[in-house]
Amino acid sequence: MRIDILTLFPAIFNGPFSESIIRRAVSAKHVEVYTHDIRDYSTDKHKRVDDYQFGGGAGMVMMIEPIAAAIDDLKSQRNYDHIIYMTPDAPTLNQQRVNTLSLSENIMILCGHYKGIDQRIRDHYITDEISIGDYVLTGGELAACVLVDAVVRLIPGVLNDEESALTDSFQDNLLSPPIYTRPKDFNGWGVPEILLSGHQAKIEEWRMQKAVELTKRLRPDLLK
Ligand code: ADE
Repeated sequence: MRIDILTLFPAIFNGPFSESIIRRAVSAKHVEVYTHDIRDYSTDKHKRVDDYQFGGGAGMVMMIEPIAAAIDDLKSQRNYDHIIYMTPDAPTLNQQRVNTLSLSENIMILCGHYKGIDQRIRDHYITDEISIGDYVLTGGELAACVLVDAVVRLIPGVLNDEESALTDSFQDNLLSPPIYTRPKDFNGWGVPEILLSGHQAKIEEWRMQKAVELTKRLRPDLLK
């Protein structure tokens, strides 16, 4: 898979992408991730990328020309399965959406800043709009990091057996059951007997029961 990210702040991605599983996935060539500075596509002599909004109102708007030029440039080089705009005014990301995106060959992610982008980009270029939750971030970059992390870990070969995504919360619309490791006793706090019993079938039954209990209590919406 190839992921191209369009942003005014490419350096934001340096940290998240240079650690842990994403770093490993890139090194092992399971995924290629590129950031592109939208400012490089500005033809304005001051490299301007934002302007006041028509009709007045607070907040600058990212201009159409540099974004269109950046998207056109990338689209001229390959086909994209999804051209995604990260924005709070969109459907919220969930595991099902992540699963679908993980099957893509090439995806492009556009990060907005300031008040947002000129609506015509959304109308004519964007194929998917994604929010990561009902709160407003300074820009789409951190949201894009979240999306890339969630997608990359599902690419075949990225996780090993121990890290398997199959037992993640949400893969079956259930939260994960509680987990424990050594020691069996910490300051008098024990672990559920059943997990030490060696009775695999009973253990799986307990886990399922806990998962359902937790989901009912904390996220009843997932059970509908
Ligand atoms: N940009 C700003 N806030 C966002 C959010 N909640 N999700 C996605 N992109 C955003």
